[in-house]
Amino acid sequence: MSSIIIKTENPYQVIMEEGSLGKVGSFASAIMDPCRICIISDDNVHSLYTASVASSLENAGFDVYKIVFPAGETTKNLGSVQKILEYLADENFTRSDALLALGGGVIGDLTGFAASVFLRGIKYINVPTSFLAAADSSVGGKTGVNLSAGKNLAGSFWQPSLVVYDPVTVKTLPAASFLDGLAESIKCALIADAPLFGFINLSDMNDETKFVERCVTDSVKVKQFFVENDQYDKGKRQLLNLGHTAGHAIEKLSAFKESHGHAVAQGMVIAARASYKKGWSRQDCCSPLVEVLNKYGLTASCSYKAAELAEAALKDKKRLGNEITLAIPLEIGECALMRLPSGDLQDFFEAGLDER
Ligand SMILES: NC(=O)c1ccc[n+]([C@@H]2O[C@H](COP(=O)([O-])OP(=O)(O)OC[C@H]3O[C@@H](n4cnc5c(N)ncnc54)[C@H](O)[C@@H]3O)[C@@H](O)[C@H]2O)c1
Ligand SMILES: [Zn+2]
Repeated sequence: MSSIIIKTENPYQVIMEEGSLGKVGSFASAIMDPCRICIISDDNVHSLYTASVASSLENAGFDVYKIVFPAGETTKNLGSVQKILEYLADENFTRSDALLALGGGVIGDLTGFAASVFLRGIKYINVPTSFLAAADSSVGGKTGVNLSAGKNLAGSFWQPSLVVYDPVTVKTLPAASFLDGLAESIKCALIADAPLFGFINLSDMNDETKFVERCVTDSVKVKQFFVENDQYDKGKRQLLNLGHTAGHAIEKLSAFKESHGHAVAQGMVIAARASYKKGWSRQDCCSPLVEVLNKYGLTASCSYKAAELAEAALKDKKRLGNEITLAIPLEIGECALMRLPSGDLQDFFEAGLDER
């Protein structure tokens, strides 16, 4: 078992342990009195894991309610928030009651947002079941939903009261979702954890559960550092956006056929190659990055042109004005933030795409 305390205003524990799904009730009762708790999940995860979480909560004295949404990104909308809020109000949930997100990042972001606004804020527990949610979205308190105009445009900062990850859940995770999580873990390694990068590069993955446990533990530690030092994402936490400026543009240009992990993988390669070519990085991070991405079947090479990427990225960032902040690798395990005039972004992408 590993346990990490995230020291935000109200510190909370992130527990990683095989078999922890069946112990959520006892972990929860250590931090709150038994109350009403509403488990929010999607239809894939519900049929696999709700029963075990619910019975553990009931055994610990909680009164369990459930809401199940269709799986997928389209559930992350204001209509789903309204459905949760109306349900909680109908069932007379009070400020001392709680929510529990059981699922991937979609369910975590949605549940956290609903928790942040119901009665001006109630507690929620995050029980991530996808690699990506465990390594990235369940920690840090960014919650939200999508609007028609774009992803994550409505949201709040609202930290969970507890995070419990059972790495055994990786056994049922679809392969594509596994790669999405792995891409974020490689990102954390490249930003701030060279030993994790080496581990991922050398692993033979003969024990998938142990592999994921190590990746998630170390990624959460990287995230912990940035969240504790910059909870509201005004400075260094933006390093966690490495690969995401080009990545989001690639997702958009592909009409979201390119998954988040593959898009971020290509975005990281672009950032690494461009910063090496421009003499900003101390070493060539691009070659080892491409090697590790190829090893796991993540896409390293981008088929879009620099002009298309820049146009899509700048549309996304137009609220930021004339400058854009990019995360760039200096060496494996260290990145820096770089402010560029928006007009230079295309040139940056050109350098990052040119494989010569
Ligand atoms: N809040 C943050 O800081 C943050 C960070 C990164 C990403 N995100 C958000 O996270 C979302 C993506 O998260 P995701 O990749 O987990 O997607 P997801 O929640 O859609 O889950 C991926 C798929 O896997 C299924 N699934 C999840 N766990 C499973 C399991 N153990 N077994 C079988 N199936 C399982 C889900 O039902 C879904 O179909 C996006 O909306 C993104 O914006 C948020
Ligand atoms: Zn991401």
